Amino acid sequence: MFILNNSDPVPLYKQLYNQIREQILTGKLPADSKLPSVRHMAIELSASCNTVDGAYQELFAEGYIYSRPRSGHFVSALDRDVAPQTTSGKPGKCDYLPGPPSNFTYDFHPARLDPESFPTELWRKCFVDSLRRNSQQLVQYGDPQGDWGLRCSIQSYLERSRGVLCDPDQIVICAGLQQSLDIVSNILKESHSVVAVENPGYHLPRSVFQSHSYTICPVPVERDGIDLNALKTSNSTIVYVTPSHQLPLGYVMPVANRLALIEWAESGGKFIIEDDYDSELRYHGKPIPSLQGLRPTGNIIYSGTFSKILSPALRLSYMVLPYSLLATYRQRYRDYFPSVSLLEQRTMATFMVQGHWERHIRRMRMIYKKKHDILLRSVESHFGTRAVVIGQGAGLHVVLMLPETPHSEAEILDRALQKGIRLYPFSDFHVNDQPEVTTLLLGFGGMNGSGLEHGTAILSQIC
Ligand SMILES: Cc1ncc(COP(=O)(O)O)c(C=O)c1O
Repeated sequence: MFILNNSDPVPLYKQLYNQIREQILTGKLPADSKLPSVRHMAIELSASCNTVDGAYQELFAEGYIYSRPRSGHFVSALDRDVAPQTTSGKPGKCDYLPGPPSNFTYDFHPARLDPESFPTELWRKCFVDSLRRNSQQLVQYGDPQGDWGLRCSIQSYLERSRGVLCDPDQIVICAGLQQSLDIVSNILKESHSVVAVENPGYHLPRSVFQSHSYTICPVPVERDGIDLNALKTSNSTIVYVTPSHQLPLGYVMPVANRLALIEWAESGGKFIIEDDYDSELRYHGKPIPSLQGLRPTGNIIYSGTFSKILSPALRLSYMVLPYSLLATYRQRYRDYFPSVSLLEQRTMATFMVQGHWERHIRRMRMIYKKKHDILLRSVESHFGTRAVVIGQGAGLHVVLMLPETPHSEAEILDRALQKGIRLYPFSDFHVNDQPEVTTLLLGFGGMNGSGLEHGTAILSQIC
């Protein structure tokens, strides 16, 4: 029994097609059963023959039914194991689909930037400028390694501000750290199988390495960065590190350890992946120069991003490959198209060439220093000696150790949620183990001064 609805915006023939298809897929219309003739079906439905004929033709074209000369239309035999169970078009409920975004009054997420800070007007001007000047290039795909002009701007910026020494030739423009790591994992996996990661450390790279079937070797983090003795006794031949601002603990790897790490890499073709994600944001003293600059010819893959200063939504980052990997990279990726829009890249290049980027960095450093100081003052006045702060003085978050709290991290996150506070679980940074004392990660980039003060005051009451 089929029902057509004249007030449904779906055309009548399509409604009939959907209903017959549904019955075939669910087995209600078995294989080889005969469908009513077009004329009979039209009478039964009080519809026109064209409507029925349209539905039958579409079902026939897609193989749901077949026709026999002078006999009519019959249902095709389908493999029920592979045929979809429903035709509603909606996938079944999937545990991995994120829910709708929640609203928090206080969001301590460590990757939030200041909501007022995006230089909209300047970006618009650079965008329009790039559009005007590059419209002829928009009919092509562009260089898979990234726009040459942008690579040149990044090269001179990195040399000036991060001490990275490289040629624009070595720079690959990517749509974020995970894409860089995906490429690196791909080009190294034939000769490497174990990657050392900091523990605690940034968790997202682990999933990239795992998806390329690498074994993950968690190495403890000391006050001076990754534990080199533990690294040396592991069987890792690649290490992923954040030496200038360890995520999440904020430690800086001193130069002696950097040199020792370089020596480790040089002893037998090992590789260092240096993630220099937020070094522009140091609030006291000078930025720490990169590890790559200590051995520009070494086996160091340097990665940087525009996500921390400008916008994580742009998906614009870069990596510097050592010359030893360039040939393999080009050979593997020569058939790939660029993953970042040419217009976005040209806009960024214009933004850099016109001096806006470095001015923007200086402006953001001031804004975030102010927020950082407000957060530290609030923690001091509301937590007093109950909290030990680590990782202050840089970046967009600090870490709060709470040795006296009776509550676990999960309890605090839950209590915070009930008060409209979003916290990011510190335990996510641990590979298998858990922190010995309850520890919170407080991002301050996305909140204003009064949000930081009030949020911290409420937090101190629930911890
Ligand atoms: C350690 C670390 N590296 C890199 C990034 C930035 O990654 P992307 O360039 O993919 O935005 C982040 C962002 O939070 C980070 O925490």
